[in-house]
Amino acid sequence: MYVEIGKILKGEMEGKKVSIRGWVHRQRGSGNLNFIILRDASGRIQCAIKKEKVGEKSFTEASQVYIESSVEIVGTVKKDERAPGGWELQVDDFRMVSRGEPFPISKDLSEEFLLDVRHLWLRSRKLVAAMKARHHLVNYLREYLDGDGFYEIVPPVITKSQCEGGSTLFAMDYFGEPAYLSQSGQLYAEVMIFGLGKVYAFAPSFRAEKSRTIRHLAEYWHLEPEMAWYSHEDNMKLQEDMISYTVQKFVKEHPDLLEELERDPAKLKKVKAPFPRMLYDDAVEQVNKLGGKMEIGQDFGADEEAILTKEYEKPLFVEKFPKGIKAFYMREDPKKPGYVLNNDLLAPEGHGEIIGGSERIWDYNELIARMKEFGLDPNGDMKWYVDLRRYGSVPHSGFGMGIERLTKWVLGLNHIRDAIPFPRTITRCYP
Ligand code: 4AD
Ligand code: MG
Repeated sequence: MYVEIGKILKGEMEGKKVSIRGWVHRQRGSGNLNFIILRDASGRIQCAIKKEKVGEKSFTEASQVYIESSVEIVGTVKKDERAPGGWELQVDDFRMVSRGEPFPISKDLSEEFLLDVRHLWLRSRKLVAAMKARHHLVNYLREYLDGDGFYEIVPPVITKSQCEGGSTLFAMDYFGEPAYLSQSGQLYAEVMIFGLGKVYAFAPSFRAEKSRTIRHLAEYWHLEPEMAWYSHEDNMKLQEDMISYTVQKFVKEHPDLLEELERDPAKLKKVKAPFPRMLYDDAVEQVNKLGGKMEIGQDFGADEEAILTKEYEKPLFVEKFPKGIKAFYMREDPKKPGYVLNNDLLAPEGHGEIIGGSERIWDYNELIARMKEFGLDPNGDMKWYVDLRRYGSVPHSGFGMGIERLTKWVLGLNHIRDAIPFPRTITRCYP
């Protein structure tokens, strides 16, 4: 019976004879003794191969492995403080599954090269840890929303309507008609709240971002909750509770992954609701005070967000932006004309925006007026969206969070591309 290496490392197999299978992480040897560090998805273990035990033929094979050759090994589990991880397998039998060719990735390789061989680099310790972490983060988000009575819904990926403005749309040919890859499932999530109350979409979003930055992808995974009857206030409360739950659970359950990625858990332990809040106007003033340069009516870029969040240990809400610089569907603040009931949530340590959310315009006349201001046709491809305000409209709110932005911050990654297996950016669509 094959066992996972992780099970051995947990100390559950001491003294037992086991079979393991996996890939060669390292190999070194001399005369009659050979060491292979074997890895599988659950961990790494040192295997000591003696010629007198496995015989001439197997011993020669074992000394000819490459990095990433796949092998099967039978051996006896021994505690050994000198071995990495504290356990060693004393090998009785060795079998090559596929020796393959010399692995092209060795030391000191450039970022560009590693992106070219992404399909192989995804076996690296760092990316394996990041992919596991992403999986857990998504699970905890789902767990939180499920516990709060949300239904998961599926928005279409091919759409006629634009959600976040025309400039970053990927156009496609849809049987001879123009259509677009979705920038956001929000407008469709809004449809679903009338039947289901609280919903979330989790789907890829596409942005033809021309900028080459450490936080923009052309294709990213978008979590978009949308809630009937929620105010702007309720919306922000949900965001901070969801993030606190997810981060706290992750820190508690996966210290091993944080260690592997050299991320200080103490920083994440501080991420608990409530989060600090700042009005847009004050945030602009703050940026200028701290050495940045911007005016009311401009949106924050990465630099401004870094300046703003430098002093914070928790994510920072910036709320109530001028309506002209935000999307058409955001409700105007009745108490502050010209500004909308929205928020961005900025992750600390310079990571910046991870969430954008708002209360939606739910009044028919307000929506028609705003769409006209934004040059959108209420009787065109978005007629169905306007319809929602004609039949039993209700106050509602929602937000969108980029999963790779969240993962980048939680894991302290330098670049967003390492939060997704196959990053799509302005310069790259391979592999
Ligand atoms: O702020 P955005 O554009 O808001 C919307 O799309 C709303 N319709 C969401 C909603 O209310 N349902 O995008 C939301 C989030 C951002 O805060 C960011 O985390 C992520 O999506 N995001 C990106 N992530 C990676 N690469 C990009 N190019 C991204 N653009 C946005
Ligand atoms: Mg935004």
